[in-house]
Amino acid sequence: MTHARSVDALVIGAGAAGLFCAAQAGQRGLSVLLVDHAPKVAEKIRISGGGRCNFTNREATPANFLSENPHFCRSALARYTPADFIALVQQHGIAFHEKHKGQLFCDDSAEQIIRMLLAECERGGVERWQPCSVQDLERLEDGTWRAQTARGAVQARSVVVATGGLPVPKIGASDFGLKLAERFGHRIVAPRQALVPLTFSAAEWAPFVAMAGQAMPVVISTRPGATGKSKKAPPPVAFHEDLLFTHRGLSGPAVLQISSFWQPGQPITINLLPQVDVAETLRAAKQRSKRQWGNELASLLTQRMADTWLQMLGLDASLPMPQVPDAQISRVADSLHTWQLTPAGTEGWNKAEVMAGGVDTRDLSSQTLESRLQPGLYFIGEVVDVTGWLGGYNFQWAWASGMACAEAL
Ligand code: FDA
Repeated sequence: MTHARSVDALVIGAGAAGLFCAAQAGQRGLSVLLVDHAPKVAEKIRISGGGRCNFTNREATPANFLSENPHFCRSALARYTPADFIALVQQHGIAFHEKHKGQLFCDDSAEQIIRMLLAECERGGVERWQPCSVQDLERLEDGTWRAQTARGAVQARSVVVATGGLPVPKIGASDFGLKLAERFGHRIVAPRQALVPLTFSAAEWAPFVAMAGQAMPVVISTRPGATGKSKKAPPPVAFHEDLLFTHRGLSGPAVLQISSFWQPGQPITINLLPQVDVAETLRAAKQRSKRQWGNELASLLTQRMADTWLQMLGLDASLPMPQVPDAQISRVADSLHTWQLTPAGTEGWNKAEVMAGGVDTRDLSSQTLESRLQPGLYFIGEVVDVTGWLGGYNFQWAWASGMACAEAL
């Protein structure tokens, strides 16, 4: 056997969770080796939040996460809170702002968060090998771990798997963590795309292609599938967010949020004008306005949307308001308030922001993120079946799970 580099902890994956966990473990006095197969560190942080990294959410609670076991994330989230991470960001002099619903973004660039995490790693004396793939991992008789990497063998008391989820394979995502978990006997909750734009069949979407680029605040809802032991259908979930029409379907925060709950084959329902009673407004307009139907409706939507909508319903946009039958008004109002449509699919792993599903939490400790089957093996971050809503929650899970693990190593 070749001589192996020996460390207390080998952390695989230098993304959000891996960098943070490695830094914390190093600062607690452990010798830590961090390896990542990608040439660049933390690519997902770099592209996150439109380049400004929505690094946490001030109001994060366990209710903002999906998992077969919704309680699993509680312990880690309670012990390392958004306020703790904000304090670290402030210590590093990074200016930030709140954009929307507790979402915190860097004023300048996501690079600042990466530099902060690297500085924290340096403070903890963390050694980083990158690019460096891990080819094999085995447990030795004395209970320690031996990894075969592209830069040689590594022996470690603990191994932390922080290899993230499947989205955006071109910047380093892989199924390494899921495969490794399976190989060592862990159950996997089937991975699926989350926070992802939804698509429709070309035929179904044809009437709406003209609306590509239009955005509006909506209420969007769907009925999620049963989770965990419960066989009962859960109540519908709804989000009040912005919707964006695209050439192939729907995107924007509203759709990204609902996509995490959407079950293939199930419809989604959209209230396109949640702030307005459309029927009442149009009936009042009928009494006082001589404008054409399409122009009147455009005062609630945009002209392009109003025209598309009436055309889709087979109604004459040039009809003067006083001649519009009440039944048409009701039909338009109902269709705008409860637009029900069934997506054909999603934009896929290249466009998904996160993976739902992952290493089954039944096989992990919620206190330490250590495997219940393989002592000394830990899973943190997105590879675990804990998925945050859109809005900084996924990074908060990366930090919190990374900290819970680091404290236990
Ligand atoms: P992460 O993906 O960060 O890191 C995994 C690391 O493991 C990578 O560096 C990868 O190269 C490495 N790796 C993979 N396979 C390996 C192997 N076989 N060997 C060695 N290394 C391997 N969240 C949020 O809260 N706010 C936001 O603003 C955004 N924005 C956003 C935008 C976009 C476009 C995406 C795709 C995602 C987001 N997210 C987000 C989600 C967030 O980026 C994500 O949940 C976290 O980065 C997850 O952190 P992890 O450390 O678990 O994985």
